[in-house]
Amino acid sequence: MMGFMNITIRQLKIFEVVAQHLSYTRAAELLFLSQPAVSMQIKQLESQIGLPIIEKMGKRLFLTEAGEELLIYARAIINQLTELDDVMDELKGSQRGRLKIAVASTASSFSLKLLGEFYKRFPGSNISLDVTNRANLLNHLEDNTVDMVIMGRPPEGMNVEATSFMENELVVVAEANHKLSNKTKIPLSVIQKETFIMREHGSGTRIAMEQFFRESGYDISSVMEMSSNDAINQAVEAGLGLSIVSRNTLRREIQLGQLTILDVESFPIMRHWYLVHRKGKRITAIMAAFKRIVEKESAEILNKSK
Ligand code: PGA
Repeated sequence: MMGFMNITIRQLKIFEVVAQHLSYTRAAELLFLSQPAVSMQIKQLESQIGLPIIEKMGKRLFLTEAGEELLIYARAIINQLTELDDVMDELKGSQRGRLKIAVASTASSFSLKLLGEFYKRFPGSNISLDVTNRANLLNHLEDNTVDMVIMGRPPEGMNVEATSFMENELVVVAEANHKLSNKTKIPLSVIQKETFIMREHGSGTRIAMEQFFRESGYDISSVMEMSSNDAINQAVEAGLGLSIVSRNTLRREIQLGQLTILDVESFPIMRHWYLVHRKGKRITAIMAAFKRIVEKESAEILNKSK
């Protein structure tokens, strides 16, 4: 029991980085420390705890069971300290508010416009943004590593608050001169025969697309996979196939006449964008300001920027 009293926050922070990357070298780089300094901190932590926390098997590092447990607590402590820092900043009336958000890759272009507007109003704020797919957004919420998330469908079975603020229509896109581009009410039986370019596993768009075809009794078998919406749009333009994408990723390509939206039966698939944060999260002034912009003003801001 007494041994734990000597653990320092610095050791926990170092351990958290080592555990995340499972590499002393990478952790040392990220922390601007020497590699021996990092491994010494881990050794000291182990001797205070009285159990090994990291083991080396072959060339790879592994967390021991004690290491896994410690990681959960280390992350919780670090998060609490960051929150404490924010609260104290707020009490000092500091302009240096911090906002950590993560957005679905499919939502990135309009999210950046909303962030732009936010930054105009809070020029002193410190914003960090992760643009990633649905699976990683769920991890962010689970691990409490961001303040807020913009995503396609709020997670089930997780204690979150979610507000829908905008429609998200999934449409079938094709190159502008595609043979189906002038047809109307194209049946799914025709669409099914085409080659499709899909997002990677873990993408919310992909999950919605697969669910749609499953429920309508069709199976698209001819597929290519890409992990970015831009790459997909370029691949469709190059004639590699059709895709199902959010209309939010498309504006420029449609305006430039590079892509066209096909008139397919049962489309668009109607979804919504949500602003999500963990329930019980302390909402700082800066988070409240961002929330207000997204939930109350996004339609106006995005219309203006068209
Ligand atoms: P994604 O978008 O496809 O970029 O993961 C999230 C979603 O639409 O749920």
